[in-house]
Amino acid sequence: MPSTTARAGGVFLPIVKSLSLSAGSKPNDPSARKLGSYLVQSQLQASGNSSALFLTAAAQNLLCLKLAEEIGVKIANPWISWFKVASLPAIISLLATPYLLYKIFPPEIKDTPEAPAIAAQKLKNMGPVTRNEWIMVATMILAVSLWIFGDTIGVSSVVAAMIGLSILLLLGVLNWEDCLNEKSAWDTLAWFAILVGMAGQLTNLGIVSWMSNCVAKVLQSFSLSWPAAFGVLQASYFFIHYLFASQTAHVGALYSAFLAMHLAAGIPAILSALALTYNSNLFGALTHYSSGQSAVYYGAGYVDLPDVFKLGFTTAAINAVIWGVVGTFWWKFLGLY
Ligand SMILES: *[C@@H]1O[C@H](CO)[C@@H](O)[C@H](O)[C@H]1NC(C)=O
Repeated sequence: MPSTTARAGGVFLPIVKSLSLSAGSKPNDPSARKLGSYLVQSQLQASGNSSALFLTAAAQNLLCLKLAEEIGVKIANPWISWFKVASLPAIISLLATPYLLYKIFPPEIKDTPEAPAIAAQKLKNMGPVTRNEWIMVATMILAVSLWIFGDTIGVSSVVAAMIGLSILLLLGVLNWEDCLNEKSAWDTLAWFAILVGMAGQLTNLGIVSWMSNCVAKVLQSFSLSWPAAFGVLQASYFFIHYLFASQTAHVGALYSAFLAMHLAAGIPAILSALALTYNSNLFGALTHYSSGQSAVYYGAGYVDLPDVFKLGFTTAAINAVIWGVVGTFWWKFLGLY
């Protein structure tokens, strides 16, 4: 699913909610801590890592690559390269997330033997898989395969998405009304159209290179080596997200400038471009306004505001350690630097 918010609202939150309610854990209630708050928070943290894993897992990822291309950093075979570089740190982080939260934000209920039985019952009530659901599965497989292998046969990612949408519309799985109701998708489209245009102009008019040269000079005056400059720039890019209420808006406003600063500081191009894109996913769980999905999860009413901020910061620190340590070795191994 190419949208983190859609995955959160459409798939995970309904599951988390029904599991929690069946375990007697209600939102905006002391019982929230029984199970719901743990599930919601670990799902939110996991979503950042899973969106960093696949190029097509989040809307802003493709925007990042487009902006990188405008600055002259072109990544060959994007889907595969993206996945290779992200795989090890993202998978380790994904595996660690439920365990870490279990330690720092434990649920009160530690055992839910009735959950599988309830799930089996619900599945039975839903009946067999319908025709439309099979078409959906097949279309999804086709679209994802085209995203992965399309480059070699000359099908771009946009064409792959249009083919998928056309199949769903032609076979009546979706109608135009459904498309109109995808509010967040139209929002993204409008943002993209404007931001890509504006970012292009900032580059053309020389503002991005002027800004990045200034910062590069400052970094040079401290005579920072490129790995140190890399750390400083990545951390600044990450924590500036406290000022943004959307991942796409942050990418549109700052990605090009930060990438140019990386290049001016002599950091390897592909490493810079990809690390910034991964960070653009990971900062989505900092606060309740950081991203579409975190608003959705917070809105469910299971986690208190102070907890959101505390956990957002602690897990971000842990995250920096995991991605930093694993990334250092993995990216050396892959020859990115
Ligand atoms: C990703 O995984 C790490 C390690 O489990 C965690 O600290 C972090 O909060 C996770 N999510 C995000 C959005 O960074």
